[in-house]
Amino acid sequence: MKDILDAIMASESTAADFAALSLPESYRAITVHKDEAGMFEGVDSRAKDPRKSLHLDEVPVPELGPGEALVAVMASSVNYNSVWTSIFEPVSTFGFLERYGRLSPLTKRHDLPYHVIGSDLSGVVLRTGPGVNLWKPGDEVVAHCLSVELESADGHDDTMLDPEQRIWGFETNFGGLAEIALVKSNQLMPKPRHLSWEEAAAPGLVNSTAYRQLVSRNGAGMKQGDNVLIWGASGGLGSYATQFALAGGANPICVVSSPQKAEICRRMGAEAIIDRTAENYRFWKDEHTQDPKEWKRLGKRIRELTDGEDVDIVFEHPGRETFGASVYVTRKGGTIVTCASTSGYNHEYDNRYLWMSLKRIVGSHFANYREAWEANRLIAKGKIHPTLSKTYRLEETGQAAHDVHRNVHQGKVGVLALAPEEGLGVRDAELRARHIDAINRFRNV
Ligand SMILES: NC(=O)c1ccc[n+]([C@@H]2O[C@H](COP(=O)([O-])OP(=O)(O)OC[C@H]3O[C@@H](n4cnc5c(N)ncnc54)[C@H](OP(=O)(O)O)[C@@H]3O)[C@@H](O)[C@H]2O)c1
Repeated sequence: MKDILDAIMASESTAADFAALSLPESYRAITVHKDEAGMFEGVDSRAKDPRKSLHLDEVPVPELGPGEALVAVMASSVNYNSVWTSIFEPVSTFGFLERYGRLSPLTKRHDLPYHVIGSDLSGVVLRTGPGVNLWKPGDEVVAHCLSVELESADGHDDTMLDPEQRIWGFETNFGGLAEIALVKSNQLMPKPRHLSWEEAAAPGLVNSTAYRQLVSRNGAGMKQGDNVLIWGASGGLGSYATQFALAGGANPICVVSSPQKAEICRRMGAEAIIDRTAENYRFWKDEHTQDPKEWKRLGKRIRELTDGEDVDIVFEHPGRETFGASVYVTRKGGTIVTCASTSGYNHEYDNRYLWMSLKRIVGSHFANYREAWEANRLIAKGKIHPTLSKTYRLEETGQAAHDVHRNVHQGKVGVLALAPEEGLGVRDAELRARHIDAINRFRNV
């Protein structure tokens, strides 16, 4: 592994140098273990501790197949799916690996008693499989997390509709929280040159998801002037949704839960901010009964911030806790676009407010190939910025996932894999200098 790192750190290394490097037999990776999938049975969700279930293991380098690439991972990040995997909720991810393994002898490689997790990476291509022409050893890349087979026509227009669509590093093995990762070459995209390894890795999954959910015609199709209610506006998804709203001429109404998070939204340029803790919204009277008076109180507060207007779009992901309120506060003809259910997936809302006011609920999930490419392009051009607040070493991934699970983080949490320290990998200092304040705005809050 030292030779690989030396080649990456030496600026004069060529594609031939990388191709000549011998691959190690094994690498360090963050895993969950199949025989521990029941370890949290009977424990309350919030008390399930990723530090107990995430391991740093030495695992064999997987065999490289056609259309695939092995990448030396310099940095990765923690996503909420890392949390779901580590607490084995809503289901153990080993079921995904078993199902994928039944597809073909090649996918059988993924069905193992350990799962290498992680759905983001920045790094350097080490090897490519047969049929890969665009990428070569030595290319500096990031990878998006859409894994598809594309054998069925269903996914030929929108690759997210492929019946074999999976999230790499969550529903497949050999993910990015490791020193080496296996990806399909179609996941590769150029690394933004003005960013360090950890900054380049951080946006991946959430940035692409927020792009489809908010900007793309497949999601809400946001337009200039739209009022957009963004739950968790300083969190992983929300920190990109807020930037897309501002960059697209819309008006984000940012919901957060502390003055520090409100300050971060202000730093991004948002003006309309609601602190849900300070204003103490209680959308549920008890476990079974919602309180429409609280929906109305939220709607009134939004109107105070928008000169009397209602929201065109709600950027939803908390789910059960907020969904009734989200449907209520959306304007006539508006859109509630949802990609998750962090607080519970059995949503309840009053349907009269939906049909009588001709609102739409749109389901959205990650992003298709093209949307992921567009989202990364905006990062590379310095139009949208990483929201990295803190970086951990690979061996500290359990702690990083624990922080995200307890909602004590800001924006995105990075993880160094092969990169020995933060700040390496910047190739365009001039573009970086132009955006340095924006790149650092989630740090030290
Ligand atoms: N379908 C997809 O492709 C996709 C992609 C990415 C993520 N997701 C899912 O989306 C969810 C959020 O992911 P993320 O990366 O943004 O996580 P995150 O970094 O934890 O941010 C989520 C934010 O939502 C807010 N929040 C959490 N619970 C809430 C509640 N009960 N009521 C109101 N606000 C609440 C919190 O902000 P405040 O405390 O400041 O309000 C939190 O910071 C996760 O469930 C994740 O698995 C889905």
